Amino acid sequence: MTAYLIRGARIVGGEPTDLLVRDGVVAEVGPDLAATGAQVVDAGGLVALPGLVDLHTHLREPGREDAETVETGSRAAALGGYTAVCAMANTDPVADTAGVVEQVYRLGRAAGLVDVQPIGAVTVGLAGGQLAELGAMASSAAAVRIFSDDGHCVADPRLMRRALEYVKAFDGVIAQHAEEPRLTQGAQMHEGEMATRLGLTGWPAVAEEAIVARDVLLAEHVGSRLHVCHVSTAGSVEILRWARQRGIRVTAEVTPHHLLLTDEKAVGYDPVFKVNPPLRTAADVAALRTALAEGVIDVVATDHAPHAVEDKECEWAYARPGMLGLETALSVVLGSQALGTDWNAIAERMSRQPARIAGLVEHGRDPAPGAPANLTLVDPAARRVIDPGESASRSRNTPYAGLTLPGRVVATFLRGEPTVLDGKAVR
Ligand code: DOR
Ligand code: ZN
Repeated sequence: MTAYLIRGARIVGGEPTDLLVRDGVVAEVGPDLAATGAQVVDAGGLVALPGLVDLHTHLREPGREDAETVETGSRAAALGGYTAVCAMANTDPVADTAGVVEQVYRLGRAAGLVDVQPIGAVTVGLAGGQLAELGAMASSAAAVRIFSDDGHCVADPRLMRRALEYVKAFDGVIAQHAEEPRLTQGAQMHEGEMATRLGLTGWPAVAEEAIVARDVLLAEHVGSRLHVCHVSTAGSVEILRWARQRGIRVTAEVTPHHLLLTDEKAVGYDPVFKVNPPLRTAADVAALRTALAEGVIDVVATDHAPHAVEDKECEWAYARPGMLGLETALSVVLGSQALGTDWNAIAERMSRQPARIAGLVEHGRDPAPGAPANLTLVDPAARRVIDPGESASRSRNTPYAGLTLPGRVVATFLRGEPTVLDGKAVR
């Protein structure tokens, strides 16, 4: 196994130092390290962060390998600075059995570019009717801890309560896609002035907020862990603030796109901006940024949602919701100014806290002697123009095409092996 001597990196934004990576761990940290035989990586001016961890990735395998595979999504993740991603369950077949989650887990290991931690479905076939085999998925080789019907809401409150009760036994968490379906029938974009002007059916903020409010109360009642996926409204933030003050065990995520883009983007009817939950107003974006900085929202999660050309480049109403996110997340977070260049906050929101929520003990640890060498090197001074053609994803549906964004991932290491060097995928 090659050793790597990383020269002059600023660990989580601190003073420049050297890091020796050997046998899968950070062996030494300090000035002017020497190591014969080690490959030198010049990290002058670069920030070293614990490898990023994504709680919300759609990898599309099994079933839609034309849009993404575990391998192509893993490569996109590594290029984005990630060392672990949690793979959503809305595949085909749905990841609602031990067999499917083990398959995804094995595909992740075989690709070897990031650790792929499967998320299990809450209900059979994501249909919302009956609980899936949560216990079997938890005790499988994939050791599932997060369960989600993402793409769909667990709308039945009795079923949601059962799910929360069930996962308590193994400290699991239910990750809810908060959308009261009766309030979003036919919805195409955020309900508001823009939707009215464009003549598109609205997705009201209250459809999210009603479920967030209900679920924090259920989580309190049961004493179990709830995670709220892709929070998108100022009202949800207020409910979460209240719940946390009350000591309810709730965590929450926001996507990069909800931190940067608004519903104004729908003006040209370009479906690349169609996403669920939809892009909201500038006031919502401002509330989400503040909530992330304050920690009312714990983490940034990408909701990386690759879609094949025929599912995206069509009329708005027929287009699938979702956007690519893995390769651009860090740059979008920097560009949003939500956390400024507070590297400690960025490490907390994009690596340490998501790792804690997912129970990934090998991840989310700052580079220090003895820690697993899961880390990423970022050039904060770089600026780059987003070119969809350069993406490692099988899909092209990035909403940032042509945009100039700050920051660039220069290298990523997974257990001491580079997956990205000089900004390029190693494999
Ligand atoms: O925009 C979205 N895309 N939101 C979801 O909840 C699901 C996801 C997908 O699977 O494409
Ligand atoms: Zn979702």
